[in-house]
Amino acid sequence: MHKEYTVKEIIRETSNTQTYLFTGKIDYKPGQFIMLWFPNIGEKPFAVSHLKDNEFGITIECKGKFTKGICNIKKGTKVGIRGPYGNGFKIENNSIIVVGGLGMAPALPLIQKIKDSTIIQGARSKEFLLYKEDKNLIDTIAKNKNKIIYCTDDGSFGINGFTTNVLKDIINNKTKIVYTCGPEIMIKNVFDICEKNKVGCQASLERFMKCGIGVCGSCAVNDQLVCKDGPVFSSKQIRKLTELGKFARLKSGKKVPIKEYYGYRSK
Ligand SMILES: Cc1cc2nc3c(=O)[nH]c(=O)nc-3n(C[C@H](O)[C@H](O)[C@H](O)COP(=O)(O)OP(=O)(O)OC[C@H]3O[C@@H](n4cnc5c(N)ncnc54)[C@H](O)[C@@H]3O)c2cc1C
Ligand code: FES
Repeated sequence: MHKEYTVKEIIRETSNTQTYLFTGKIDYKPGQFIMLWFPNIGEKPFAVSHLKDNEFGITIECKGKFTKGICNIKKGTKVGIRGPYGNGFKIENNSIIVVGGLGMAPALPLIQKIKDSTIIQGARSKEFLLYKEDKNLIDTIAKNKNKIIYCTDDGSFGINGFTTNVLKDIINNKTKIVYTCGPEIMIKNVFDICEKNKVGCQASLERFMKCGIGVCGSCAVNDQLVCKDGPVFSSKQIRKLTELGKFARLKSGKKVPIKEYYGYRSK
């Protein structure tokens, strides 16, 4: 089931985040995800952040058993990958992309394709603004006539404040779609702003995943499976997701308030 890929290059992005570039092709649509397998530590879902003709990459935050294990591997190591899975974004120009923290990783392939749009990128502080110095990204943004606005919670770079405050200021009746990836509380606030302004939203959701193909049920949000029905959900679907921003499931399958889920995540 897995295809073997070799790590071609490792790029340190922030103090706890690294990008792994693999040699080889992948038939990937922005917004989809892959399952990454490594012997003895298991398998987990990741978005593809970097995409070229014969090379692709993923950006990993080293935080738990699996990701810390991956963050120790070296150039030349072989890994197993299956997928891509899930639906992906429907791309419309003249849109807004709102990303928080690591949410910039799944947004990168979308930014490569979209035109005449604004990206609002937020992070806790300057050092967590992913790819800020990436020359390819800066060139792509300029080439596609996009613009990027940075926000930090502590004011260390760009606007001092949340991405949602900027969104409120710039969203208007010419905005085609608002795309969003990142912390679920931010996604819920972005969706509420879209509803108020009657603009469609496409949100990339994250849930704990085991199989990635709609079999185990671990990634359920209400009656939807994030791996199969998502991970990108439209406004029409999000309106029915009463659990969004409120509840999520732990590894054990237990449904808990979202704050408890994020507390567990940061352990
Ligand atoms: C569609 C999708 C795309 C993702 N893309 C990225 C990405 O581009 N970069 C990145 O760093 N992370 C991404 N993740 C999250 C990544 O899979 C988890 O951070 C990783 O599994 C953590 O595993 P761990 O063993 O290091 O940490 P653990 O200690 O096991 O868990 C830390 C926390 O990560 C979350 N988590 C753990 N396992 C999974 C899982 N199988 N599925 C979903 N969440 C999990 C849980 O909330 C858990 O509390 C994505 C998740 C999904 C569902
Ligand atoms: S991860 Fe198994 S159903 Fe979604």
